Amino acid sequence: MYHPLFTNIAGKRILDLGFGNGKAALYFAQKNKVIAIEKNPRLVLRLQKHNNANISVIQEDIGHYCSKIQKEEEKFDLIMARNILPFLQNKKIIEGILHQVQNALKPGGYVFLTFFGRKDEWFGERENIVFFSKKEIEEMLAPTASQNSNEILEKIYEAEERGVKPTMHNTLKYWHIYNIILQRPFLR
Ligand SMILES: C[S@@+](CC[C@H](N)C(=O)[O-])C[C@H]1O[C@@H](n2cnc3c(N)ncnc32)[C@H](O)[C@@H]1O
Repeated sequence: MYHPLFTNIAGKRILDLGFGNGKAALYFAQKNKVIAIEKNPRLVLRLQKHNNANISVIQEDIGHYCSKIQKEEEKFDLIMARNILPFLQNKKIIEGILHQVQNALKPGGYVFLTFFGRKDEWFGERENIVFFSKKEIEEMLAPTASQNSNEILEKIYEAEERGVKPTMHNTLKYWHIYNIILQRPFLR
């Protein structure tokens, strides 16, 4: 689930957008400070029950939260937007959030994004999900060279994933996903 780039990070400020079951927030909180945003009150309560001193759990819309980040000291080293953007109604809203996410990152900070591809089992079935072609993703995002290692960043720019795997609710489906890791600035 986590790229090797993230396995040893420590002492960083991390934002988890739409944390769902909270797995990523709990993972990163072992060695980092995590701000975890979720709109579903049941999931908020569930993560709050962990009483993890390294996690600030906030019940809020992700767009609303990101739009408030202005000061440099509030910005993040890593923003997780895993399996959340495709649920935001339409491409215009998604692009708006991406601008806010870019603004909420420290210079050179990382973003983890997931998009649904058109071979996904839910394509044509779920009206509430936005699906992307590779071309559409490339039209929005521009990978920049890593400040630390060009080689790593080229490799992690895009990982296309296809296969049967469980959903958050533990039912099996065929996934077609683009996992993308980029550094700020990442928008065209
Ligand atoms: C498919 S789940 C993914 C959860 C987690 N990020 C993961 O990778 O497993 C999407 C989550 O985003 C939350 N969500 C969707 N739209 C949101 C919004 N506008 N603001 C805050 N949370 C939102 C949903 O309640 C849900 O828990």
